[in-house]
Amino acid sequence: MFRSHTCFCWLCFALGTAIAFLLLFGMPQQASAQPKGPVSFINDVAPILKENCFGCHGAKNPKGKLDMTKFETFMKGGIHDEPLEPGMPDKSLIIQLLKAKDASRMPPKENSEALAPAKLAVLEQWIKEGAKLDNGIAKNADLQRELRTRWKPPTPFAIYPFPVQINALAFTPDNKKLVSSGHHELTVWDVETGKLEKRIYTRCRRAMAMVFLPDGKLAVAGGRPGEEGDVRIYDINAAGKTENGILVLDGVNDPKVMVAKLLEADDEVQCLAVSADGKKLASGGCDRVVNVWDLSPGYDKAKLEQSIENHADWVFGVAFSPDGKHLLTCSRDKTAKVWDLTTKESVLTFPDHQASVNGVAVKSDGKVGFSAGSDNQLRSWNAGGDAGGKAVKALGSHTKPILKLAQHPKLPLLATCSEDMTVKLWNPDSGAALKTLSGHTDQVFAVAISPDGTLVASGTWNGEVKIWKVADGTVAKAISASPGIVAVPAPPK
Ligand code: HEC
Repeated sequence: MFRSHTCFCWLCFALGTAIAFLLLFGMPQQASAQPKGPVSFINDVAPILKENCFGCHGAKNPKGKLDMTKFETFMKGGIHDEPLEPGMPDKSLIIQLLKAKDASRMPPKENSEALAPAKLAVLEQWIKEGAKLDNGIAKNADLQRELRTRWKPPTPFAIYPFPVQINALAFTPDNKKLVSSGHHELTVWDVETGKLEKRIYTRCRRAMAMVFLPDGKLAVAGGRPGEEGDVRIYDINAAGKTENGILVLDGVNDPKVMVAKLLEADDEVQCLAVSADGKKLASGGCDRVVNVWDLSPGYDKAKLEQSIENHADWVFGVAFSPDGKHLLTCSRDKTAKVWDLTTKESVLTFPDHQASVNGVAVKSDGKVGFSAGSDNQLRSWNAGGDAGGKAVKALGSHTKPILKLAQHPKLPLLATCSEDMTVKLWNPDSGAALKTLSGHTDQVFAVAISPDGTLVASGTWNGEVKIWKVADGTVAKAISASPGIVAVPAPPK
């Protein structure tokens, strides 16, 4: 699968290695000794349970009927009552199972290693101290949510140690700047000079989708894989402070920069679309849910109109029909679908890809849907009426999975990007393949079309952004879009 659920980007790898190194060599006395002082359930115990146990002991169909995602259900226990005896770790079922040498061991032997001794010690100490819940947390509080609110995003690197994978790109409404996803930030580049102009720090580790709204604010979807997802609205023209000649905006704490949070989810949000009249915003993500907001009351009062569960797997693409009455969606469940926003019903399913469908678009007449997927194909299909869901034709293909599909809101222009390291341009009205843009040295994860339709930007796994001229397919600018990294890295061997 091209999109893994844990973050394998270089930056997370670098951080993870540094932390592992510290744990192994930097703090030996802490790692082996019992924790000092009272152990906090939420700060010390819950993170261990989340990392090692929630996968099987979650709220939905928990193994052994033991749901650990709430203090209340955890203490109540599963098939066997009371998994622990406050004050007596040795008499507690949970400790016996964690220490067991036979097949009863938790986590199960066939799935993972035994819990690390340092973590086991934290659990034992907490039980010894009475197995208490911290003050200020309700017994039935969702622990995943409690952990999320306590998590603080790191300050982005001044100079990146590795290039960051580019997952999302958007041209500003005046066509002059390009916004790129970074590591816990958005970066803004001048299209003409290719220079970094602005950094907007975000809670979100990686932006997966961005759309400009009619008033020039930027809607951003993303999150941390397997941890959290969000949809937020930013004012990228708000005031900031200058650091080393670059304007830095605090999109984590400054409400003038991060003007609204529309969604907080348990997993990453993958896609966004705005309706033609600019009044509605839709998102989709790894929780399989598609959300639709009415933005007309203002961002802070935006109304969540529908939460649609119509796909069996992660949602990778959303697109409004030109009249705003239907929403096209696509998913890792190998289908593209059409949802009627008025009757709140699923209207049709397009099943032909037989592989993850990673992007959708719709023709200006609203009658033809386009979808692109891991079967390498860009396909068109009937988006309504009696022939709904029937293929019109396969427009063309890449030699490897198509990762994203971008559509110009008015002009007949579609762009696809692929693992095959190319970007292709298409005319959705005639169905013609227009151009193949080659020259990237890695898989292309992001593609965007400028509002005036003259430029296309693409971004890769190895952190390269190219801005192409639509007219002749030449490169107008190539940027290494990781602050501090000047040269685009050599292609992998
Ligand atoms: C890969 C899945 C998996 C993981 C991960 C896992 N468990 Fe379990 N757990 C199970 C299964 C399956 C059972 C039921 C075993 C049975 O009934 O024989 C179970 C049962 C239990 C029970 C007994 C519940 C009862 O009342 O019968 C406890 C306690 C428990 N697990 C603790 C843990 C802890 C603590 C962790 C994390 C450190 C953990 N488990 C991680 C699969 C898992």
